[in-house]
Amino acid sequence: AVVKYISADGAVTEIDVSPGVNLMQAAVNGGVSGIVGECGGSAMCATCHVYVDENDMGKFDAANAPEQEMLECTTSPLKPTSRLSCQLVIKDDCDTITVHLPETQQ
Ligand code: FES
Repeated sequence: AVVKYISADGAVTEIDVSPGVNLMQAAVNGGVSGIVGECGGSAMCATCHVYVDENDMGKFDAANAPEQEMLECTTSPLKPTSRLSCQLVIKDDCDTITVHLPETQQ
């Protein structure tokens, strides 16, 4: 899937992400600034916070309890579209995804 990361200042980075890979990993590997991923993807740090584009919310499984709890700890404001990108795994049939990066992660 082609994932478009849009930073708070409007800069767009597009990365091709394989099914099974999560959006935090892909961003860190791809050098997207604005996603930190301090805990390495265990839903323990909330520094991989993103706002998923409204049209793409349905392309991921709903947040589980640990993710929901950790979402209370994000530095930037929580929105209905807030997710932890390490918990967003690209599915086989997914073509494009757009996520918006918050102003700050820490
Ligand atoms: Fe730590 Fe996602 S990388 S919560």
